[in-house]
Amino acid sequence: MSAPRTTAVAERMGRLGTETAFAVSAEANEWRNLGHTVYPFHLGDMDLPTPENIVEAAFHAIRDGKTGYCPNAGIPELREALAADVGASHGVAYEPENVAVQPGGKPVIEKFLLTLMNPGDEVLYPSPGFPIYESQIEFLGGVGKPYGFVPGERNFLLDFEAIEAAITPRTRLLVFNNLHNPTGAESPDEEIEALAELAVKHDLFVLSDEAYWDVRYSGRSKSIASLPDMQERTVILYTFSKKFAMTGWRLGGAIGPKELIAHIATLNVNQESCTTHFIQWAGVEALTGDQSGAEQILRVLQERRDAAVELLGEIPGVTCYRPEATFYLFPDVTGLMERKGLETYDELRRAALEQTGVSFCTRLHFGRALPGEEDRYVRFAYSGISTESIREGLGRLKEWAQ
Ligand SMILES: Cc1ncc(COP(=O)(O)O)c(C=O)c1O
Repeated sequence: MSAPRTTAVAERMGRLGTETAFAVSAEANEWRNLGHTVYPFHLGDMDLPTPENIVEAAFHAIRDGKTGYCPNAGIPELREALAADVGASHGVAYEPENVAVQPGGKPVIEKFLLTLMNPGDEVLYPSPGFPIYESQIEFLGGVGKPYGFVPGERNFLLDFEAIEAAITPRTRLLVFNNLHNPTGAESPDEEIEALAELAVKHDLFVLSDEAYWDVRYSGRSKSIASLPDMQERTVILYTFSKKFAMTGWRLGGAIGPKELIAHIATLNVNQESCTTHFIQWAGVEALTGDQSGAEQILRVLQERRDAAVELLGEIPGVTCYRPEATFYLFPDVTGLMERKGLETYDELRRAALEQTGVSFCTRLHFGRALPGEEDRYVRFAYSGISTESIREGLGRLKEWAQ
């Protein structure tokens, strides 16, 4: 009898990336299980409860029998509510046919690429950035073209020159994440306008990842989709995950030109049939019901932001912007690494965890470093840690740095 064959995994699996932040989480949990205190700044998950009216709406929908299949593109009530909500906040007209409901925001990335990208097409995407862009582009046979950021006066700015220089006749798509994970950066109006001009000039389709659209403490968000000639070439990634603390519910949407949305809905048929029926009713309540829960979430996040920015600012060798949106901080830790004689990101991360309990991701969890990138950055997420623990953890980090 011959030996059992080892599993012959398809070649494409070698191109599939992952979110290495989950490995940091596993390491932090291991450290905690050994009896140590851990201050979890590593994951973009939330420790805040979903607002009660949304939870109730889900229970009600289950009891009301909303447990069978439903339309592939989403229940009409949710498509309508999303079209109205996003239309109003973007100042453009969307109809229910512009919306395909999804099981989270993340699937929009893959479905956008499946719908628009041919093998060999080049796709511009941010690095540092949400790691799933690069993973899906390469998995699906595209060619990823990362673009970076440069430090500005109040926050990071797009490395616009690098974006322009990277465009070739094969460039078809642009992934633009504003407000940005992991930097917390927000593009000023001029930057969004210049990017839109570039998209029109080079006939690029845009994935506008707006996962953090409403996670902001002052000012107003602006979308590339609302600029002239852009609505027809932009698909918006919408998610309920962050604004309503619904990360585990898996509810989001793709919002864009009707023809593209129809293709995305056909992908829904092939992949999940439909997003969980009763969860969609909770989404209707989230958008159209009482908003005090979402407002309370923002108040808590803002208090955490203030505490974290203040304390990071006191740590020698660390400099940090004060973003008005998202729940991420992306401090420059070049000086801290020099002070501690640490060479690599991993050395920094392990030393901080083992000597202070503070756990965070580094720049390399958000894509490969780009040529010429010299300064060192790490990401602090404050969505899953209380203000009290922020103060305690960053206090320890400060003592360690001194
Ligand atoms: C920039 C960005 N886009 C998309 C997502 C996906 O969010 P979800 O699938 O939970 O809706 C995330 C989640 O962290 C994100 O940070």
